Amino acid sequence: VTVVGAGKMGSALARALLAAGYAVTVWNRTPARAEPLREAGATIAAELADAIAASDVTVMSVANQTVVADLLEDADAPSALRGKTLIQLTTGTPADGRRGQAFASEHGIAYLDGAIMAYPRTIGTDAAVILFSGASDVFSAHEPLLRALGTPHYAGADAGLAAVSDAALLAFFFATVAGFLYGANVSRAAGIEFGDYLALADPFFKTFITEAVDETAERIAGGRYGDAQSSTETDVAAIDLLIVEASRDVGVDPALMAAISDAFSRIVAAGRGDEAIAALADLEAGQLAERAS
Ligand SMILES: NC(=O)c1ccc[n+]([C@@H]2O[C@H](COP(=O)([O-])OP(=O)(O)OC[C@H]3O[C@@H](n4cnc5c(N)ncnc54)[C@H](OP(=O)(O)O)[C@@H]3O)[C@@H](O)[C@H]2O)c1
Repeated sequence: VTVVGAGKMGSALARALLAAGYAVTVWNRTPARAEPLREAGATIAAELADAIAASDVTVMSVANQTVVADLLEDADAPSALRGKTLIQLTTGTPADGRRGQAFASEHGIAYLDGAIMAYPRTIGTDAAVILFSGASDVFSAHEPLLRALGTPHYAGADAGLAAVSDAALLAFFFATVAGFLYGANVSRAAGIEFGDYLALADPFFKTFITEAVDETAERIAGGRYGDAQSSTETDVAAIDLLIVEASRDVGVDPALMAAISDAFSRIVAAGRGDEAIAALADLEAGQLAERAS
């Protein structure tokens, strides 16, 4: 397997492949950065096209999609990849994934687009979930290799879907952590010790929030938004009165919570204020369908 890019992630990928017994060739723009991988058993190639030519599969993990485009525009790269497989693990948008697939089809290259939902330290373990999209036969053919990198999840034949799922999970991640930090800020601004906030926030997260996410999932899956323990109207009033006002009182910028209040207020504006906040999923699904038709 050839690994293009020996940064933090590329090096972790190369090490996981070496640990799984693959013969690994590495190319990096700055050769010195790949030297530790030579000591770990990899072959270091001086030229990108030579590196690609050395293996049937090339795994790419470079800084961004501009770098990807520069590397693949190199006249020798597409011809070296012809008849082989390119697994693109550089972070990109859904459009980048589809562009990668189009480039690969044009040059006779089997292609998978991947999104790594993990830090380099977990690569090579089951904890490293990696999303893949592209032709299912390419995914199946390379599953043992993908398993050497982490836990592969097939997101679909459209090569943009790994990036879509990446965006979805990262939205969940960042919004959750932003809420935790917001609570810490409001508490600290009012003189509450972080440890005291944490003592409340930790069990709240592990029980109340986890259950709320489970309940929201059940509601969406069942298309059931009524019979709420707390109606959206009540929830929006709590956000506006309690959180936004409490934030202003202690001098914390309420912009984040105000945006959340605006989002849920659309449920009330649609005349569904007596339903659960899960109804936002239904409302947005309806609006998306309307826009598509
Ligand atoms: N680190 C993470 O936790 C993580 C998690 C998920 C996904 N990712 C994704 O993995 C990819 C790599 O991230 P990283 O953490 O490994 O970053 P990094 O340590 O900064 O490595 C960047 C890599 O890109 C190469 N590069 C940069 N500019 C280049 C250019 N103009 N031409 C050729 N090569 C160039 C670097 O080569 P040089 O050594 O020569 O600079 C290096 O190999 C990114 O797309 C990132 O979003 C990272």
